[in-house]
Amino acid sequence: MSFNTFGHLFRVTTFGESHGVAIGCVVDGCPPRIALTEADIQPYLDKRRPGQSRFTTQRREPDQVKILSGVFIDEATGEQVTTGTPIALVIDNVDQRSKDYSDIKDKYRPGHADYTYDAKYGIRDYRGGGRQSARETATRVAAGAIARKIVPGMTVRGALIQMGKHGIERARWNWDEVERNPFFCPDAEQAKFFEAYLDDIRKRGSSVGAVIEIVAEGVPVGLGAPIYGKLDGDLAAALMGINAVKGVEIGAGFAAAAFSGEENADEIRMGNDGKPVFLSNHAGGILGGISTGQPVVCRFAVKPTSSILTPRRTVDRYGAETEISTKGRHDPCVGIRAVPIGEAMVACVIADHYLRQRGQMGETPAWPFARA
Ligand SMILES: Cc1cc2nc3c(=O)[nH]c(=O)nc-3n(C[C@H](O)[C@H](O)[C@H](O)COP(=O)(O)O)c2cc1C
Repeated sequence: MSFNTFGHLFRVTTFGESHGVAIGCVVDGCPPRIALTEADIQPYLDKRRPGQSRFTTQRREPDQVKILSGVFIDEATGEQVTTGTPIALVIDNVDQRSKDYSDIKDKYRPGHADYTYDAKYGIRDYRGGGRQSARETATRVAAGAIARKIVPGMTVRGALIQMGKHGIERARWNWDEVERNPFFCPDAEQAKFFEAYLDDIRKRGSSVGAVIEIVAEGVPVGLGAPIYGKLDGDLAAALMGINAVKGVEIGAGFAAAAFSGEENADEIRMGNDGKPVFLSNHAGGILGGISTGQPVVCRFAVKPTSSILTPRRTVDRYGAETEISTKGRHDPCVGIRAVPIGEAMVACVIADHYLRQRGQMGETPAWPFARA
C-alpha cells in the first residue's frame, strides 16, 4: 500500500497497524541541532492515549515512544539534538485483543472502511481495523511534537467546540479549561453538560460526532504558496486525512458564504510596531494560500464512531445480507481524541511550509517597502 508519506521538506512516513507488533514513523527533513528527547514527544501522546476517562475507549495502550535514530549528544552543550538525518520513532502495541473482532471479521461495519478496503485490496486486517484504525494517528502526534520545535515562537492549540448538536458558548472560551476536563472543551459549563450527555450515549451503546477547532499562533507571514501549494489547501488535506473527518473549514469557513463583502473584509490598519493589524480574522490567517501573520484557524467535523452496539443492517464479504453489532472497545465520541491529532497535523503542515519558505526565499522581504 503506497501513499503513507506527507509533507515536502518536513516529510513524515508512518507505518504499522492496530494489532501489529508496533506502529511508528520516520520524520525526514528535520533541521539539525534542535534539542529533542522522548520527553518532548511523550506529553502529546499522553493527551491522545486511550483509557484516560470513561468517555474514551478502555483500551490500555501506554503509547511509550522510542527514538531509534536521528539524534546525538551535542558535545558543546551535553544536550541530545537532532542530527538532520531521518528520525525514526516507534510505539509498541501492547493491548491488542484480537478476539474482540473475530465475530465481525467477515462483516462490514456501516460507516467504517471495511467494505472499501476489501473491495480495493482483496485482503483486510480486521483486527482492530488494521491500518484503517486511528491507532496510526499516534505516530502523527509524535511527528507533530517535533514539528512544533521547528517554527520559532509558534504555538498550536486545539479544542472541542461541539458535540452532537451541542456547541460551546464562545464568550465562555477559556484555554485553561481545555486541560481541566476530559473533552478538551474550552467552555467549563458545556463540559459539565457533555458528561451526562455522553454518559447516556455510551450506556446506550451509541456514538456521537464533534467539531474541533485548531488555532496556530505565532505563524510568520508568507508561509504557503499560490495555486498548488496553498497553506489552506495543505491544511485541509492534512485534517481531512484524519480518520472519521468529514469536513474542514478555514477561518469563517462555510459561514463566509452568508456574509456580505463588507462583513467578510478583514480591514487593515497599521500597528505601532510597523506591522499591519487586521481588525478581524474571517480569513483564518490565510489569504491567497499564504499566511498573513494572524492566527491560523481551522475547524474540522468528526463523524460519530461507526462501531456501535446497536445492530445495523449490512452485508458480508461473500455478498450475503446480515446484521452487525460491534462489541469491542470503542470511543463513544472519537472527536475527543481527535483534538491532539488535529494539533499535530496543523503543526506538521506549518513546519513543512516554514522550511519551504526558507528554502525558496531565504529571508522574508522587509515590509513595508520604501517608496521609489
Ligand atoms: C481518535 C480516533 C479513534 C477512533 N476509534 C474508532 C473506534 O474505536 N471505532 C470505530 O469504528 N472508528 C473509530 N475511529 C474512526 C475510524 O478510524 C474511521 O471512521 C475509519 O477508519 C473509516 O475512515 P473514515 O471515517 O475517515 O472514512 C476513530 C477515529 C479517531 C480520530
